[in-house]
Amino acid sequence: MRKNIVAGNWKMNTTVQEGVELAKAVNARVKGTATQVVLCTPATHLTEVSKVINQPALALGAQNCADQVSGAYTGEVSVSMIKSTGASHVILGHSERRAYYGETNAILAAKTKLALAEGLTPIFCIGEVLEEREAGKHFEVVKQQLNEGLFDLSAADFGKVVLAYEPVWAIGTGKTATPEQAQEIHKVIRDHIAAKYGQPAANDCSILYGGSCKPSNAKELFANPDVDGGLIGGAALNADDFMGIVNAF
Ligand code: PGA
Repeated sequence: MRKNIVAGNWKMNTTVQEGVELAKAVNARVKGTATQVVLCTPATHLTEVSKVINQPALALGAQNCADQVSGAYTGEVSVSMIKSTGASHVILGHSERRAYYGETNAILAAKTKLALAEGLTPIFCIGEVLEEREAGKHFEVVKQQLNEGLFDLSAADFGKVVLAYEPVWAIGTGKTATPEQAQEIHKVIRDHIAAKYGQPAANDCSILYGGSCKPSNAKELFANPDVDGGLIGGAALNADDFMGIVNAF
């Protein structure tokens, strides 16, 4: 059965030292939680953060990886480098990567395969922009992102992927999807997975919600049957806020 997961996406925030302090604060407070908690730090922080986390509930992740195995790709960070820090997860296809760095579904499909081959768990992000929602195309958009980004995977590999639905209009805007909007599209996503890989595979897939998730709205979002946790940006930078979300289950 699928896990409840709360992943913090620190984005391009904190120095290594600040990140280590934040990770220590979370580590001290996740003891005993049944939720899988993941800290997705900047790549520069992974090795140091990995030294200060030791709770079974707490995992470490990167926010991106290269689309090549190794070699002359200046500035890139490979999946084996990420794995060697002690990280177990990697966010792929975040809307900021798609919008600002030109990451296409095809690039993301390649990154996903590399991550899986290295034994990393992809947290694969999908979601529509405001114009697409207003045009009533949001279901179509997420289905296409799944078809082109993930549905080339074998059923066994798909079973290792965590999904995050993040409406782009809700990211960092303070505007959250309503619990009804989240449940509606999470169900569409799960049904689409079921049509491709079968209902048991769909039932086993954790689908996180992301976009202005806070301690004050996490409970009602997570109460939905098809919402299995959250991918948290801004609120992950403060241990109290982040733990308020983790404890919303
Ligand atoms: P936010 O970001 O929580 O700050 O809206 C979520 C995300 O981008 O993953």
